[in-house]
Amino acid sequence: MRTDTGQVFKLEDYRPNDFSIPQTGLTFRLSPDATRVTAVLTIERRDGAAASAPLVLDGDGLVLKRIAVDGRELAPAEYLATPDQLTILKPPARFELLLETEIAPASNEALMGLYRSSNVYCTQCEAEGFRRITYFLDRPDILSVYTVRIEAQLDEAPLLLSNGNPVESGALAEGWHYAVWHDPFPKPSYLFALVAGNLGQVADSFVTMSGREVELGIYVEPGKEGLAGHAMDALKRSMQWDEQAFGREYDLDVFNIVAVSDFNMGAMENKGLNIFNDKYVLADRETATDADFANIEAIIAHEYFHNWTGNRITCRDWFQLCLKEGLTVFRDHEFSADQRSRAVKRIAEVRTLRAHQFPEDQGPLAHPVRPRRYREINNFYTATVYEKGSEVVRMIRTILGSQTFRAGMDLYFERHDGEAATIEDFLKVFEDVSGRDLSQFALWYHQAGTPNLTVSSTHNPVTREFTLEIEQSVPPTPSESRKRLMHIPLAFGLVGAGGEPVAYGGVEGATVEDGVIHIRKRRHLVRFSGVDERPAVSLNRGFSAPITLSVEQKADDQFFLAGHDSDAFARWQAFNTLLTDALIAAFRQILGGAKPVFSARLTGLAGKIAGDETLEPAYRALALALPGEADIARDIGRNIDPDAIFTAREALVLAIARANQDAFTKLYGRLAEDGPFSPDAASAGRRALRNILLDYLSLLPGGVELAARHFETATNMTDRAAALTVLAHRHDGSPEAIKALAGFEARYGADPLVMGKWFQIQASVPGPKTVETVRALTGHAAFSMANPNRVRSLIGTFSSANQTSFHRADGEGYRFFAQTVLEVEKRNPQVAARLATALRSWRSLEPGRQAKAREALLAIANGENLSADLRDIVERTLA
Ligand code: ARG
Ligand code: ZN
Repeated sequence: MRTDTGQVFKLEDYRPNDFSIPQTGLTFRLSPDATRVTAVLTIERRDGAAASAPLVLDGDGLVLKRIAVDGRELAPAEYLATPDQLTILKPPARFELLLETEIAPASNEALMGLYRSSNVYCTQCEAEGFRRITYFLDRPDILSVYTVRIEAQLDEAPLLLSNGNPVESGALAEGWHYAVWHDPFPKPSYLFALVAGNLGQVADSFVTMSGREVELGIYVEPGKEGLAGHAMDALKRSMQWDEQAFGREYDLDVFNIVAVSDFNMGAMENKGLNIFNDKYVLADRETATDADFANIEAIIAHEYFHNWTGNRITCRDWFQLCLKEGLTVFRDHEFSADQRSRAVKRIAEVRTLRAHQFPEDQGPLAHPVRPRRYREINNFYTATVYEKGSEVVRMIRTILGSQTFRAGMDLYFERHDGEAATIEDFLKVFEDVSGRDLSQFALWYHQAGTPNLTVSSTHNPVTREFTLEIEQSVPPTPSESRKRLMHIPLAFGLVGAGGEPVAYGGVEGATVEDGVIHIRKRRHLVRFSGVDERPAVSLNRGFSAPITLSVEQKADDQFFLAGHDSDAFARWQAFNTLLTDALIAAFRQILGGAKPVFSARLTGLAGKIAGDETLEPAYRALALALPGEADIARDIGRNIDPDAIFTAREALVLAIARANQDAFTKLYGRLAEDGPFSPDAASAGRRALRNILLDYLSLLPGGVELAARHFETATNMTDRAAALTVLAHRHDGSPEAIKALAGFEARYGADPLVMGKWFQIQASVPGPKTVETVRALTGHAAFSMANPNRVRSLIGTFSSANQTSFHRADGEGYRFFAQTVLEVEKRNPQVAARLATALRSWRSLEPGRQAKAREALLAIANGENLSADLRDIVERTLA
């Protein structure tokens, strides 16, 4: 584990290194406890660098066994080696450096660098894992051409993979063998990868737009080949889509994907050799839900798209992380939107953004999409960099229009291919193709915080003028108390009484183009002339900007838009706003000791939407999914009592169920599966709608029997997991719930990924006693503190998706959590640091819980020998 030096890295300190490494040769002689790594680096001093400059290479816990320059072993006085750094005091201007290090993959539990996962050797080098393999200039602006030779025992590792194309392979003495790989594309060290082991293969091929044939391989645990079909199909669709949508063709002879079961993140885009968390590869109807199928497709696409946005054009430094991540998320969102339903995809994206990025942006861990400083870069793989980063790219497209945006992307690829680029480079291509000035817009990269627009409207029937008064503000965030005014593209519509768009004569007070108001000043009075009747205003259509809105809107208008807005996203939003407002009112009633009441108009609208056959089932399912407890908490903002929020939400679920019992029952019956299973979007949408109806109906008389029947007759994991969730959450402790949980365990006990769902469902059972359940489950045979997926299923779910248990009033949830985070940290600082972010909104809790949450944070902060990862998170959270 890297020692915490407390060093802060700053964007303004960026300097190119004095040296470059045009060629990198690596030889691995693999063994679990003592792998020998021989690096042969061609090193050149850069023009302009001082002749006296020493060469300082990064390391992390390394043991140097041998060092030679141009074939001559160095004397001890010529270099300085510590586990974390290697300095060559007087290097020549151009030389070949030979380094030998020894590493122990089997005891690498941090899962960075070279490690073992179920007896497979694999690597994770982003962001700074390569320095755990050999000393190197481990920074993304050092691009090198790699040739890699892997040697291993044939029976231990018959499969030997690295980046690029295979060059040769053969047998060696004493049961060993080798393979050589060459990657012709210069790349940064974080994209290096190696895999060696005994794996099953699924093979296919793809012919690119220029007619080159690419061999595709997906490698999985032997026996699981049958679960890789969906991933392979998604890969081929991704390759084709990138050609059509962005003109990007694949560039090597092979493209390989390996699924491993111990992985810190989702997946990794190593050049030509993507390494995946197996959760995002393996799927069939028996073991994967529709959400799993959709995630696999999105992540396969994401990593593949990095080949151009990340690999061919990489980042100059880690401050530019959003250059590849935000852009690549935007690309995978567009891919999924084209493969599935655009409106449904957009609603789901916005729900995710609000659930993860908004609280980040509104709490102590807020940072700009392009941060200016960091202590531990691993803590910046955040919703802000990824999801808000994607929204910023989307806004560029909104402002420029699709065609000009595409021209900008083409210029980006043309101008920066083979380079390590910056956000300034990215913005410049769009300025150049459009002739627009994006300097105010660039604040979206530089300024943290979620902007708010306050909007009110007036209509004057005499002057026939309709006026929108719009005011922007950006709340302060840590170390940025004063904010500058942003350029916010606000898509809108004026909607007439029949749902039709209202025509207007002219507009004054702001630039309005293609249905978008460009907000640039603090306050705009936008005046539309020639408007006879007061229209309803539909705002932030398609979620054109990642902002919050405070709209003075009549409830009548909101109800009207929820039924009639022609923009599907805005229509969903209108209903969601009505639900949120009702939930917040109910929360206040509960705190005041009253019983919450909900209008028949609202519960009736829920029924209307559910039964509206002109709407896609997936859309209706999303509409019926009430705002989550954490969403409600975020919108309330302060003095949060999670129990009162839970009670309010349950009351609304019950009110909607009661008001629509007959209609929901009939619809539930009509949606029963007919025909063979298919994971496609339309079938998944019907399942989603039926499963949410089950959730409502389960609260009514006969509900537990209905859910038990749903569970028993399920023919796929989506329905089975949905029914189990309903039983466990809504009928906790019932014989039906106990039986279903035991049946699920008996059926899937040997499948670690499916057991993850079983942990997840139990970790999210509302109520105080889940703390004890979760504590007990840490001792279950299928649980392991060393496996990130299992830790996330049980501990991650408990702390980030169980408001009533995690935030138990007596603080027991926090105490258990602090202990567990420290336990995970001993092995895996990155996973522990990620877990710890669950406490980031502690200051919005009511005073009693706030004090207890603070104690837990302090307990973590006082942990012995804290890693840089965890210390960075707790200290910023407490600051
Ligand atoms: N670049 C990967 C992606 O596709 C994420 C890797 C992050 N890994 C890490 N250790 N921080 O998004
Ligand atoms: Zn990525």
